[in-house]
Amino acid sequence: MFGKRSNDGTQRRIAPAAAAGSGVPMKPADAQRPAAPAAEPTPAKKPEVVTPERRHSEEYYDVKTTVFNALIDTIDLTQLAKLEAPAAREEIRDIVSEIIQLKNVVMSIAEQEELLEDICNDVLGYGPLEPLLARDDIADIMVNGAESTFIEVGGKVQKTSVRFADNSQLMNICQRIVSQVGRRVDESSPICDARLPDGSRVNVIAPPLAIDGPCLTIRKFKKDRLRLDNLVKFGSISPAAKTILEVIGRVRCNVLISGGTGSGKTTLLNCLTGCVDHDERIITCEDSAELQLQQPHVVRLETRPPNLEGEGEITMRDLVKNCLRMRPERIIVGEVRGPEAFDLLQAMNTGHDGSMGTLHSNSPREAISRLESMIMMGGYALPPKTIREMITGSIDVIVQASRLRDGSRKITHITEVIGMEGDVVTLQDIIVYEITGEDANGKLLGRHRSTGIARPRFWERAQYYGDTGRLAEALSSAEVSDSNGNPMGN
Ligand SMILES: Nc1ncnc2c1ncn2[C@@H]1O[C@H](COP(=O)(O)OP(=O)(O)O)[C@@H](O)[C@H]1O
Ligand SMILES: [Mg+2]
Repeated sequence: MFGKRSNDGTQRRIAPAAAAGSGVPMKPADAQRPAAPAAEPTPAKKPEVVTPERRHSEEYYDVKTTVFNALIDTIDLTQLAKLEAPAAREEIRDIVSEIIQLKNVVMSIAEQEELLEDICNDVLGYGPLEPLLARDDIADIMVNGAESTFIEVGGKVQKTSVRFADNSQLMNICQRIVSQVGRRVDESSPICDARLPDGSRVNVIAPPLAIDGPCLTIRKFKKDRLRLDNLVKFGSISPAAKTILEVIGRVRCNVLISGGTGSGKTTLLNCLTGCVDHDERIITCEDSAELQLQQPHVVRLETRPPNLEGEGEITMRDLVKNCLRMRPERIIVGEVRGPEAFDLLQAMNTGHDGSMGTLHSNSPREAISRLESMIMMGGYALPPKTIREMITGSIDVIVQASRLRDGSRKITHITEVIGMEGDVVTLQDIIVYEITGEDANGKLLGRHRSTGIARPRFWERAQYYGDTGRLAEALSSAEVSDSNGNPMGN
């Protein structure tokens, strides 16, 4: 069934095995393999042995290339793609074992197993990335060309020994990833965003733009999304500040989450949405869907890049504008980075209280000016003061997330937007994180402390929603009790 060529001995020897393995009617053949769980794409031998730290000899790579080429000559990849993953894997294993025998390759059983696993990963999965993808402790995978791959674990970036045979293998893997979401990456369209089947977010930038080979960046999807409780446990936020955030989320304050790349903005946004009551209709707009809302009434929207002809783009702004016609109660924008800022503010201003978004900036103050410039760059001929008034009229709270130099992630500010003084937007911190020192291991020590504001501006809202009790308690305890905010990091 997979026979593609018949001009050498390999083919004749292998074809029967291939046919026997696949079985023409696929379902029964599948049914004979009882233990394979359907959801797991590579259930067979998960790479416990195959750690990213492993290093192979050049010989191993030579053998692998030989076997791999023979395999590619033998099987028909398009046919293979039609099989379910476990069946396809079985198929490849059969053929590869035969090739190894045919070519008289000398290998230990263990090496052979590894080779099989490697080749299956190359053909069916994401090749050398598989062991990294299988690990749950990795936050980001950064591939900078075939030779160098970095990962982020526990807030720290480290180099791995993962390497690809060459840039074209890496490019093939990139291509395989993006083709799953109907996109393409090559020299003529060298930038591409995509998503892995598990929800991980992927960006590819290929040569000639990336000078040293294709760069692949994967923000791994966390199966167990962090919740506010986890953030407390990590010391990212104090218990009192957590309660304050819960109230802010629940009583429909308009919230902007500000922070740098990888500071935990999306995570925090996801946590905050957890405080939303279950009877609200929520619409989320994202560039690539990451949020996992638990409410029953959620509509998820995703932007779309232009196609090869440069047509068909749907921008964030298009989505936010469309949202307004969908009777949302809250609008959640994954990342505000352009003219959609204007539409989001308008939505916040016109009865969609409790809308939220994240924005890339390093402090609450900077967040305001970033918003302002986004609106100006969107081509609105509004005087700066009007824009600022619009911002103060819309945003209630800015929450700042930061990744500190020791790799830990903290919520460093919960800040209210109070109003205007002359031309200047006035902000009022409610909770701030103070660094108090550093321990022997280089971990930063610090505490979340209240600034002593007993009646924040959203107090009235809290009253309206009957949530002042825990708010008052949290505000007063933030002042005294957690002054030893624990230094545990992530
Ligand atoms: N407070 C935290 N403590 C530990 N890890 C965190 C924390 N917040 C986020 N993370 C992890 O950091 C990574 C980046 O988080 P993310 O929310 O996607 O960042 P951003 O949206 O700012 O780029 C994720 O892997 C996430 O699980
Ligand atoms: Mg994000």
